[in-house]
Amino acid sequence: MRRTTPNRLFYSLCILIIVTFFVLTINIYTGPFTEPGHENEITPGQNAAIDSPELRRRRDLSLKEAWLRKRELRNRDAPSRFDGIYVREAYRVSDNEIRFVYLENQDNNMNLRAEVASLGWQPVEYFCFNASCFDILFCSMATRFGSVRLPLNIPHEPFIHLTTETNDEFAVVPVTDVRLHPVQHHYQHTLGVCLQPIFFFTDWTVIMQFFESWIAQGATKFYFYKHSYTWQTKKVLDFYKDSLGDSLELIDWSDVPVHARDRGSYDRDPNSRVFRHAATAFMHDCMLRARSVVKFIANTDLDDLAVSSNLNISETLETVSKRHPNAAQFKVDWILSHQPQHWDSVNNPKDLNFDLQSVRVLEIDNIRWDYRVSKKMFHRPERVMHFDMHSVYRNEPSAEDKKQQYTTIEMFENPDLYFLHLRRFERHLLNPLPVEYNNNFNQSLLMKLNTKMLDQFNKRIEGTEFAESPLTPWSQEARQTMRDLEQCRREAFGSILDDQNQMCQQSSSGCEGMLTGGVPFIKTTMTWTNVAHKALFNTYVEQKKKFSIF
Ligand SMILES: *[C@@H]1O[C@H](CO)[C@@H](O)[C@H](O)[C@H]1NC(C)=O
Ligand SMILES: *[C@@H]1O[C@H](CO)[C@@H](O)[C@H](O)[C@H]1NC(C)=O
Ligand SMILES: *[C@@H]1O[C@H](CO)[C@@H](O)[C@H](O)[C@H]1NC(C)=O
Repeated sequence: MRRTTPNRLFYSLCILIIVTFFVLTINIYTGPFTEPGHENEITPGQNAAIDSPELRRRRDLSLKEAWLRKRELRNRDAPSRFDGIYVREAYRVSDNEIRFVYLENQDNNMNLRAEVASLGWQPVEYFCFNASCFDILFCSMATRFGSVRLPLNIPHEPFIHLTTETNDEFAVVPVTDVRLHPVQHHYQHTLGVCLQPIFFFTDWTVIMQFFESWIAQGATKFYFYKHSYTWQTKKVLDFYKDSLGDSLELIDWSDVPVHARDRGSYDRDPNSRVFRHAATAFMHDCMLRARSVVKFIANTDLDDLAVSSNLNISETLETVSKRHPNAAQFKVDWILSHQPQHWDSVNNPKDLNFDLQSVRVLEIDNIRWDYRVSKKMFHRPERVMHFDMHSVYRNEPSAEDKKQQYTTIEMFENPDLYFLHLRRFERHLLNPLPVEYNNNFNQSLLMKLNTKMLDQFNKRIEGTEFAESPLTPWSQEARQTMRDLEQCRREAFGSILDDQNQMCQQSSSGCEGMLTGGVPFIKTTMTWTNVAHKALFNTYVEQKKKFSIF
């Protein structure tokens, strides 16, 4: 009988422990990542499998997965990867304040500084547009409001210098003077419209409906923001610019700058974290821009049709504001409606007839709750401070009593003024079918509006080359693009959004990759400056030219 020496026993034990350790370790690595149904394939004791190619492959895969997960978690905890601070333009809102909108990641903690005549570099105060301090859900690139205090009586300067607390260089940002006359202000326009940036935009017919419906009811000023659009859209905009002149301001509104290598990456492209091409920033930029120029501003989208019973919205607003001299905005109904589309028969501008008589208003009980209660607003630009499409978070202090804010006037269920929401995709906004229409709605008013719009439009295009210039093909591609964009409300970077999958949706960087219509889009040139840029020029390079955004 062979005796086992203590020494041998010791070695055997060691080997057993080591083997067990490996098997267990490998199982831990493989465990969480094996596909369902394969969990029991490798168990401790099946030593033969330790070195099999299959096992090695799995081990490598699982190590890689573990590493990727770890990186993802680390990245989630370190949002400072998005450290840009993006600025466009500033506005002199009063004798002692310059205000501007900027974008930065919600937990950025770098402060801005501004150079103020006679005071030198001063910290910039900042505000969020509501208590939560971020824009929408998981879109972490948030809108901020910078405020620079000025000593009294300094004259207007057309530029301001902005930088961060750690940067040696500064950006030169244009400043528009939007101060009201201190005694009796005269507005150049009574009614104006701020239009949400058009975005991978294909439906040029609705642009004409938009302009003609507003002009027919008294609007004389348009701030039309644009991000990306088709060549047909450009033709239409060029035509209206010719026709309307200074009444139409076309404003480029681009993505924020991104390195070509990072474009379209959820982890590295800041545009993947910006909700709908910075919709919140746009609204406030437009409202600041309209100050002192326009008395009442509608903040709206192309599929919103404003209607007033006298077909004169500016007159209606003048009348109610006489009754409410302290109002900052008038809130009106926003009614979900159907407008049948006949895109295939529209080949050139002359083919358009608006067809408002075929609009049907939905029965209120049919509409999803959030869309049933949402409203739209007409603002007095110099009286509103922070707001979104449907709500107001803060108004300016009232001139009569500085302790009070200007007020919001509700004009609900008012047949004299409302918006129809002509949404093209409404299936998810309706309760179960069949769809029912509101038959009490006054259809004849829409017919009257349609006639007015058509007369006006025919006069505008009469005898122009534009009237009959072919803008085809477009309908097929437009349908596909709109369908893809609609899907982008529910999906981001290949993930269907739900309570578990919480990602930023409707970002330009997320939606662009989902477009399958093969449409080439015209994109506006870069309009944002990153104030927190890193590389520095030598001091002998002239500062002023380097960062001017124009
Ligand atoms: C802030 O605004 C966002 C976007 O409109 C909204 O989702 C959120 O509920 C608001 N938060 C507060 C505290 O009002
Ligand atoms: C609206 O009414 C005002 C006067 O109250 C008038 O000056 C203006 O021309 C009218 N606009 C339209 C489009 O009817
Ligand atoms: C419907 O609108 C037309 C045109 O504005 C108006 O003349 C008519 O009185 C309205 N009908 C009702 C029932 O309000």
